[in-house]
Amino acid sequence: MNVLEAIHERRSIRKFLDRPVDDEILRHLLCAARRSPSSVNSQPWEFVVIRGEALKAIQQENARKFRNGDPAETELSTSEWPKESIFRKRQVGIAKQLFGAMDIQRGDTEKRQAWVERGFRYFDAPAVCVITYDKALSPKGPLMDIGGAVQTICLAAMEYGLGTCIAEQGVTYSSVVRRMARIEESKNLAISIAIGYPDWDYPANNVISEREDLDHLISWIE
Ligand SMILES: Cc1cc2nc3c(=O)[nH]c(=O)nc-3n(C[C@H](O)[C@H](O)[C@H](O)COP(=O)(O)O)c2cc1C
Repeated sequence: MNVLEAIHERRSIRKFLDRPVDDEILRHLLCAARRSPSSVNSQPWEFVVIRGEALKAIQQENARKFRNGDPAETELSTSEWPKESIFRKRQVGIAKQLFGAMDIQRGDTEKRQAWVERGFRYFDAPAVCVITYDKALSPKGPLMDIGGAVQTICLAAMEYGLGTCIAEQGVTYSSVVRRMARIEESKNLAISIAIGYPDWDYPANNVISEREDLDHLISWIE
């Protein structure tokens, strides 16, 4: 698959087939991520690959905490923006697209809760990669580098017919992930990526999220 094809065809996958992903393939993805550029070649990322019983236990405990209404313990929030902003409007836009595809009505609290809970279970993916970085680094320092590595993983996954969903929800209950995945206190949890073979019959997996018109994003100066 050529790079531009992968970039344009990538989308968030929120349901996976019941099929494991070989460790060797996961290694290939992280080998690609390792080649991502980073500030002064600092390579701040560390990858925690979670599968099997450990993943099931984390999925269950995250979901339990969500159902319980436990407060978020996010260590690095990637989603804060002014309420009346265009950014908020775009969030509402993708939610409408996804709820529309999944036939979740506005007032259907039960279905909405069930939908949100799936994110805390990494959409029941067979494999998850949690990206951490050393607390010695300033909180914002490695964000750009890790963002590049995350995109590299998502694009490389497509070469193997895999789908991904980047999920802040997956590190919201950081104490759970830290304890069950044995992540040292000296590391911050940046983000998680759910990885697996896409279930193309799941309507949300066929949603193409919208993008701002290119001409609204570029200023040409000469
Ligand atoms: C930093 C980051 C965090 C995200 N966290 C979540 C999440 O917690 N739950 C979720 O369903 N999607 C999450 N997403 C996926 C975005 O909703 C998705 O990328 C966006 O709506 C654009 O859709 P696309 O990936 O299909 O192009 C996250 C994406 C990024 C980059």
